[in-house]
Amino acid sequence: MTHFDIVRVDPSDHGLVQSWLDAQESVEEHDFQGLSPWRPLGPLVGLVVPDPDNRREQWAAVCDGEVLGYLTLVLSDRDNTHLANFSAGVRPGSRRRGIGSALLRHAEERAAADGRTTVSTWLAVPHESAPDVRGDGGPFLIDNGYKRSLEAAVRMCDLDAVDEDELDRVWDAAWAKADGFELVSFHGVPPEHVIEGMAYLNARMYTDMPLGDWDLQEGRITADTLRLWERQRLQKGQLNLQTAVVHRESGEVAGFTEIQVTAGNERDCHQGNTIVDPRFRGHRLGTILKIANQRRLRSMRPWMRRVWTGNAESNSQMISINEAVGYRLAGHETVFQKKLA
Ligand SMILES: CC(C)(COP(=O)(O)OP(=O)(O)OC[C@H]1O[C@@H](n2cnc3c(N)ncnc32)[C@H](O)[C@@H]1OP(=O)(O)O)[C@@H](O)C(=O)NCCC(=O)NCCS
Repeated sequence: MTHFDIVRVDPSDHGLVQSWLDAQESVEEHDFQGLSPWRPLGPLVGLVVPDPDNRREQWAAVCDGEVLGYLTLVLSDRDNTHLANFSAGVRPGSRRRGIGSALLRHAEERAAADGRTTVSTWLAVPHESAPDVRGDGGPFLIDNGYKRSLEAAVRMCDLDAVDEDELDRVWDAAWAKADGFELVSFHGVPPEHVIEGMAYLNARMYTDMPLGDWDLQEGRITADTLRLWERQRLQKGQLNLQTAVVHRESGEVAGFTEIQVTAGNERDCHQGNTIVDPRFRGHRLGTILKIANQRRLRSMRPWMRRVWTGNAESNSQMISINEAVGYRLAGHETVFQKKLA
């Protein structure tokens, strides 16, 4: 039995921070090969830049000054205050010695003490499309009383492999059904004439996407939230490329999509939300939004190579749009969830 202590990661303890990053990297390399590559800058920035929406607790299981395992616990204060999300990992050479269980217990105790009744984690799991992803986490979570609550497919768009002529055809066919709509592309704070509509759709996003049994509830997002998020992105060095579509006659925002470019990762980026308001569906707006934003990424970040996205397995409409614009299956993720109450 290895002796270890679970301690809060102190950003001013450089040796601890270095070992904490190293432990994460070793888990990523061992367990999640072939998926979106891990970069240290994200966790590092998260350690020192406070997030007004979420309390983010970073914990480490430490033995003789070395971090053997880590736990990130996220407690949202904006909405979903019944829920706590976490991720955890143990160095490959230190497994099956009770460290993972201790970190999980710690997460559940902290969550319960904060009044949370559900804990959940997104985890990449083995799948034929991702042969190098290992499967230690699933059985571990099931043994600890977690249930699979949402199945999601990971897709990746290799921007250099996209058939741009085919994309032109898809684009033209889509616009033939989208008379009366126009695009607004931006990064930074959304322009004033779309910001209220963007806030409404961002909140809708929480519950409009298929959620399986995952206990996510409605978001509380206003125009001020979007302004705040943008200030935070600036602090973190993140770029959020967005395209919205506006219904010309009513001036209403019919939908939007976003691609997130994180600092320190100029080869891989992530698709964020995409939503079309149910009142405006059936005009191929989802396809138009995704092509427009993808092409914008191409022109603003010509060296960017891959865009990653995840969709609930049951979200067949979004998946068929993604396939049409160049995304291909690259892995599988599951939300594991446990009710504490
Ligand atoms: C999942 C993980 C955190 C477990 O860490 P760990 O320190 O090995 O876990 P523990 O030693 O506390 O395991 C406790 C029990 O969980 C179960 N378990 C753990 N790993 C397992 C595996 N690969 N297969 C089947 N059961 C497993 C066993 O019942 C184990 O008890 P045992 O060793 O007496 O059989 C670790 O494998 C890991 O870091 N995986 C990659 C990241 C990840 O999947 N995180 C999941 C949580 S977000």
